[in-house]
Amino acid sequence: MRKGTALVTGASMGLGAILARLFAADGHNLILTARSEDKLAALAAELRTAHGVEVRVEPCDLADPAAPKQLADRLADTPIDFLVNNAGFGTQGRFVKLDRQKELDEIQVNVAALTDLTRLFLPGMVERGFGRVLNVASTAGFQPGPFMATYYATKAYVISFSEGIAEELRGTGVTVTAHCPGATRTEFAANAGIEKSRLFKLGPADATEVATHAYRAMHAGRVVAIHGLKNWLGAFSIRFSPRVVVRRLVAWINQEA
Ligand SMILES: NC(=O)c1ccc[n+]([C@@H]2O[C@H](COP(=O)([O-])OP(=O)(O)OC[C@H]3O[C@@H](n4cnc5c(N)ncnc54)[C@H](OP(=O)(O)O)[C@@H]3O)[C@@H](O)[C@H]2O)c1
Repeated sequence: MRKGTALVTGASMGLGAILARLFAADGHNLILTARSEDKLAALAAELRTAHGVEVRVEPCDLADPAAPKQLADRLADTPIDFLVNNAGFGTQGRFVKLDRQKELDEIQVNVAALTDLTRLFLPGMVERGFGRVLNVASTAGFQPGPFMATYYATKAYVISFSEGIAEELRGTGVTVTAHCPGATRTEFAANAGIEKSRLFKLGPADATEVATHAYRAMHAGRVVAIHGLKNWLGAFSIRFSPRVVVRRLVAWINQEA
């Protein structure tokens, strides 16, 4: 496997922290970013000790539109071979009542920062003839999501954007993967306030299993990778279902029993 440097966003916990561990175990150097500097520092120390790799901590708030460029400027001396756009969060409730600024921040983190970081680091990858971009999307991206409308829409963007540029990049040595987990056991559900939703009560997947699936799909250069047969069948069946049925069903699973 080609060794390189990976920039992982949302590396302070959940899928991002596990992805960082997978890169380190394979001997890649890392740049870790998220808001929680203390958690990033603890993970960096763990990875340096366990795997002898170089790990740099670059805390930033991706809800700030200026953050991606500032981060790229700080990393100007470091070629990035693997970009993992994993940072993201969800909000739950009737859109009309949700906090306006938080909805805008959600679009900034899940969509705009992901797009900007990809635009900032892609030229170097193309120039060097090698790169892997892993965009953590979601099965939420395959249909509209009443009671999590903004979140589902952000993930639809991530899938569409990733597929679009993946096709443009064919033959360059750079691949883009949209990874689509279903409900997964991390801090995500508690932060979004959806732990008691029917969806999460069905039993979320193990985070290490999901992150490992994403990591392998990225190395293999898969364009869209859906974790788990159940999620794959769900995403596939939506294509043949009336949209009104899909909307009603998703509204039902996104609420508490
Ligand atoms: N868990 C699920 O059920 C599930 C399912 C499908 C897709 N996903 C996607 O998987 C990705 C990772 O989520 P997770 O499940 O690992 O959730 P998580 O445990 O809540 O982790 C989210 C990560 O994003 C970071 N983040 C959030 N807001 C940020 C901001 N403003 N600036 C910078 N970093 C920020 C957090 O770090 P700080 O708080 O330290 O900033 C944290 O490291 C997300 O894109 C999520 O949408 C999750």
